[in-house]
Amino acid sequence: MLVDSSEQFNASECSVRPKASGEDLNLDNTLRPQNFGEYIGQEKVKKNLDILIQAAKKRREPIEHILLYGPAGLGKTTLANIIAKEMGVNIKTTSGPAIERVGDFGSILTNLQDGDILFIDEIHRLNKSIEEILYPAMEDFKLDIIIGKGPSARTIQLDLPKFTLIGATTKLGSLSNPLRNRFGATYRLEFYDNKDIRDIIKRSSKILDVEIHDSGLEKIASCSRQTPRVANRLLKRVRDFSQIKNRKFVDSAVAEEALAMLDIDQVGLEPSDRHILKTIIEKFDGGPVGLGTIAAATSEEIKTIEDVYEPYLLQIGFLARTPRGRIVTENAYNHLGIKYTSDNKLL
Ligand SMILES: Nc1ncnc2c1ncn2[C@@H]1O[C@H](COP(=O)(O)OP(=O)(O)OP(=O)(O)O)[C@@H](O)[C@H]1O
Ligand SMILES: [Mg+2]
Repeated sequence: MLVDSSEQFNASECSVRPKASGEDLNLDNTLRPQNFGEYIGQEKVKKNLDILIQAAKKRREPIEHILLYGPAGLGKTTLANIIAKEMGVNIKTTSGPAIERVGDFGSILTNLQDGDILFIDEIHRLNKSIEEILYPAMEDFKLDIIIGKGPSARTIQLDLPKFTLIGATTKLGSLSNPLRNRFGATYRLEFYDNKDIRDIIKRSSKILDVEIHDSGLEKIASCSRQTPRVANRLLKRVRDFSQIKNRKFVDSAVAEEALAMLDIDQVGLEPSDRHILKTIIEKFDGGPVGLGTIAAATSEEIKTIEDVYEPYLLQIGFLARTPRGRIVTENAYNHLGIKYTSDNKLL
């Protein structure tokens, strides 16, 4: 039986979600920059971190506690690993939701060595009781533990090694003030400009051994939501497509065909993004409408809209936040080919 080879190309799977899926973890590891030289863009953050690292090395002290924040897939985990490499120390990685019990966290802390980095991803999801242990640990390198129960319970204090905490979060606003204040340095990662994304795709295509022309590079870059993880994933999808179609290299025609099959438009929107925008336009006259209502009307979860779709739609000015809820902007109407009728929505 003859099967159209394009059917092997999985077009239904979502490709522009900035969050990592299982398949991405492999791709992330293969393509992850290993030092500041390979880490493209984010110049301000790199420069500041470099000073922090050099100063700490000179003083022969561990580096200060660092908080990295910004939307998914922009390079927080990568930076944390590079910092450890540059400092020449070990990094132990965990995440907010993974630390459930106080005892588990105590053993993570006591197993660290002087100078080690403890990286806590999604630090805004730490539970309160863990957070309270973290305060004295970060400030004085002390661990308070309670031994026994009831009236005979007593607290003992253990000295911890002088470690560095690096926290990463997509939601700075969800971090409690006391925790936020205990970081010596806080850096925000920005969406990448087109040139940086092109350089990232160029670097990745070398590693993945894909021959790509500038026109193909440009096409993939423009659909990458200004996000390295999305850029890498699209490159991989386009590579799969060109292999199946027996093309020797990726140019704009191949890239365009592959992206069209994935239903990704010129600015990197996928069907779910367009569905959200159209729902707000059609059901709520373009807004303002609350996040909960949008979620109910689109059958998406509030968290998914907030973490996955909204950051980029806000970034490219297709969605705006107002005190009364989200509104779809005139730019988005134009992009979707819908006539913009309501005037002065932003007022
Ligand atoms: N500045 C960069 N230069 C080159 N590649 C990058 C850069 N930043 C990120 N990447 C690529 O993007 C992938 C995703 O980055 P990373 O896992 O660090 O993002 P993240 O911010 O931790 O995302 P999440 O919020 O989902 O945890 C990395 O594996 C790497 O290949
Ligand atoms: Mg990460």
